[in-house]
Amino acid sequence: MNTMQNDIQSVLLSESQLKEIVERLGEQISRDYEGKRLLLVSVLKGSVVFMGDLMRAIKIPCFIDFMSVSSYGNGTSSSGVVKIIKDLDTNVIEGTNLLIVEDILDSGRTLSYLKDILARRNPESIRICTLLDKPDRRTVDLKADYVGAQIPDAFVVGYGLDYAECFRNLPYVGIVKPEAVERIAKESNNI
Ligand code: IMP
Ligand code: MG
Repeated sequence: MNTMQNDIQSVLLSESQLKEIVERLGEQISRDYEGKRLLLVSVLKGSVVFMGDLMRAIKIPCFIDFMSVSSYGNGTSSSGVVKIIKDLDTNVIEGTNLLIVEDILDSGRTLSYLKDILARRNPESIRICTLLDKPDRRTVDLKADYVGAQIPDAFVVGYGLDYAECFRNLPYVGIVKPEAVERIAKESNNI
């Protein structure tokens, strides 16, 4: 069988490591938001797997919503200006504590813009929870309030994260073999 595993060079975070990370974040968030109105905002599509696990690790009542944004840019670098493809379902967020749930914080430009847009709608508070953080890549002054794991500057896939829309359903986080990157790039150019 031609599985995704064959295209992975090394595992960065295993399923059991991810489980531990999510449990820890869930406990922290449950403590910090006890008695507060909490809305988790998942940024599509990369954060869906993390979101699904995180919301079940949070032991207090919370609401969920999804946003989809795309960066204007030249393909390889985000300009920092994002277009909202799908907005929150609700426009009443006064009195609500927003927690943005993201897969990975890279340059930080997309999230910094998104945080500004949401902050202008006057939520009670606004924070960021990211599964992965690449601090070395940051170009804007932005810190996540909850971080699953800091990772070095490498391109990672799995657990929601993609390369050319592939590998999102890989159950762990890993690094793709260079020959697979080449093959997938070719395939996606042919579509
Ligand atoms: P930035 O922080 O605005 O530069 O963009 C962050 C977004 O880039 C993330 O939400 C991911 O969609 C994507 N991204 C950044 N690094 C990686 C990676 O290592 N693997 C997969 N996607 C990544
Ligand atoms: Mg993303």
